[in-house]
Amino acid sequence: MSGAKQMDQGIFITFEGIDGSGKSTQLRLLASDLRLRGYNLVTTREPGGTPLGAKLRELLLNADEQVDPLAELLLYAADRAQHVRTLVRPALATGHIVLSDRYADSTVAYQGAGRLFPPELVADVVRIGTDGLNPHLTLILDVPVAMAHARLRCRREKREDDRLEREEMEFHARVRDAYKRIAANEPDRVRLVDASSSVEETHARIMEIVLPFVEARSRTIG
Ligand code: TYD
Repeated sequence: MSGAKQMDQGIFITFEGIDGSGKSTQLRLLASDLRLRGYNLVTTREPGGTPLGAKLRELLLNADEQVDPLAELLLYAADRAQHVRTLVRPALATGHIVLSDRYADSTVAYQGAGRLFPPELVADVVRIGTDGLNPHLTLILDVPVAMAHARLRCRREKREDDRLEREEMEFHARVRDAYKRIAANEPDRVRLVDASSSVEETHARIMEIVLPFVEARSRTIG
């Protein structure tokens, strides 16, 4: 083998944060850094980590009709079930580190706090969709909503109207607060990372958390 570090069971790490928090960029940087250090990695995302998921993602994010919030909640769960059972679990079983751009905390934050579904209903749907698989480590990239929106504005081609933008900011403020509550409630699994400075500084913060975690776990299970 090419000197790759092998583990009997993998490590499941998820990235979370509001839209425009920079998680996809940070996930890419972390992945290339860990690969350089010899770890076997799988990078994936929700929605859309599997072929079925890619179709669901298209349906969810580019629908030509209004997606009902309950249908949306269930489609995210369906995407997750397919993802967990056909991709994430098998990759963990063969000793990979799996980095996922979003997972179940997105449903708690977006559908629970954002769309205001009752917490018990969201918890039930999450339990079914995850099939009992919890991440070993979750990084929540935290940025002020106004900063995330400024980043998104640069990415988007056309400017949205002010009312839509205001509504979206209120929605994301609720989502951000929910993420902070998740971090406060589950300090063993979840780390809140300040992602308001440069890409390099945030990457350095993430490496400070992930490297010792991965090294410690590889020693215990490897
Ligand atoms: P994301 O892939 O982060 O968007 P992009 O990479 O295009 O910036 O997320 C897509 C959207 O899906 C995002 O607005 C959050 C939403 N989402 C939920 O509302 N609930 C969920 O359970 C998941 C996984 C995503």
